[in-house]
Amino acid sequence: MIKVAPSLLAADMGDLRAAVARVEQAGADYLHLDVMDGNFVPNISYGAAVIKALRPNSALFFDVHLMVEEPGRFLADFAAAGADLLTVHYEACRHLHRVIQQIKALGVKAGVALNPATPVEVLRDILPDLDLVLLMSVNPGFGGQSYIEGCTAKIARAAALLKELGCRAELEVDGGIYAANAAQVIRAGANVLVSGTGVFGQPDWAAAIAALRGAAC
Ligand code: DX5
Ligand code: ZN
Repeated sequence: MIKVAPSLLAADMGDLRAAVARVEQAGADYLHLDVMDGNFVPNISYGAAVIKALRPNSALFFDVHLMVEEPGRFLADFAAAGADLLTVHYEACRHLHRVIQQIKALGVKAGVALNPATPVEVLRDILPDLDLVLLMSVNPGFGGQSYIEGCTAKIARAAALLKELGCRAELEVDGGIYAANAAQVIRAGANVLVSGTGVFGQPDWAAAIAALRGAAC
């Protein structure tokens, strides 16, 4: 089943609580929360305090994407804030295995994200421990960028590696995804589509979510 994870980065920052309620009503499967530290990526967004403030008003699965250098320092804060899944970047962790075990010890699902230039093969030894793999289809840091076409073949390589190893991790793709290009992402093997502008930038969020989910049908 295809899941749609609207990225709150593209919502009205002055009224996030209303945006979360509205996107939940519109049929989102996950809420994708982009945390940027101004170091790992050249932008700063929001942190655990904002996620904690949104948590009591939503039953959505909080899919937290940490674009943060050495995220091990902040995992407990994000788990306490109500994250259901913490995804860290391969490129941001000196000791990735330890970080993944820390996430699991907090009782939260664990994901690893790869930048566009990082090959999927680096995940081979950590994949059995993961609940989710996130492939970036833009360079992380900003919403509204264009999908990097070469990522479609990379999604297929990641799906093949998951199959080869018998892993059940979800395969999420993030960046530049709209109803118009979602079919190729799904056909390549992704099952979770992150979309910021493709949902919050559209006039009808429910229609946008339904179009993303049904793109390959
Ligand atoms: C980029 C973020 C994405 C971003 C996606 O660094 O990780 O989640 O919000 O936005 P769109 O869908 O607009 O490319
Ligand atoms: Zn993201």
